[in-house]
Amino acid sequence: MESSVKKFAILLAIAAAIAAAEKTAEVPFPDGYRSWQHVKSVIVGPEHQSYATEGGKIYQFYANPQAVEGYRAGRFPNGAILVRETLRTIAGEGGSKGILNEGERNALDVMVKDDRLYRDTGGWGFETFDSKNARLAEKDRAQCYACHAKQKDHDLVFSTLRAAAGAGTLSGDVKRQLTTDPYLNAGTYERYYGGLETMMPWAGDVR
Ligand code: HEC
Repeated sequence: MESSVKKFAILLAIAAAIAAAEKTAEVPFPDGYRSWQHVKSVIVGPEHQSYATEGGKIYQFYANPQAVEGYRAGRFPNGAILVRETLRTIAGEGGSKGILNEGERNALDVMVKDDRLYRDTGGWGFETFDSKNARLAEKDRAQCYACHAKQKDHDLVFSTLRAAAGAGTLSGDVKRQLTTDPYLNAGTYERYYGGLETMMPWAGDVR
């Protein structure tokens, strides 16, 4: 009798271990991300297809120290965390009319590198926290990997670290992204800002 109870307990433990292994590990909320390396900012202009929903927001990209190494090396080590923060904007009034100020956070997209925990999705765990820090539904999370998988040659990462302040040049990789990235829609830059050269006078230095 006692031995069958033991056997049952062992079976239960095994079943629990299997269930735990199959459930994708949760991506933790990236505490303190605003003090990490600021990678870049993006604003969606009126001519982009996503302007209706994304216009008037500011995107800020952040990388923890391991992720900064990853941008430089081209492969991201375990422990790397990338964050894309979406902020609403608040229009200034009175003397500040015409100025857009940062408003509250709309969403936080997070990617965490751990090639053991996230084996099935290229070693990256994906999560979006909404303005109340609620997580995505499992089926929505699958879309993240589906699209990021297109960046296989860049370890699933789209963005690039901008040049150090003062250098005044864009790396070839950034220029490639500005002119080919389907999401950024290069045409927007050409039409809306009058091209790379007008938007960034030093873009002539781009190689
Ligand atoms: C249709 C394609 C697409 C889907 C779906 C998508 N992303 Fe992205 N993601 C991008 C692009 C393109 C960028 C770079 C944008 C830029 O540089 O301005 C990006 C950037 C990011 C970044 C910053 C790191 C990087 O790769 O540059 C994170 C973090 C991120 N996405 C998380 C997510 C999460 C989480 C989901 C799912 C909820 C998701 N993404 C779904 C295309 C996608």
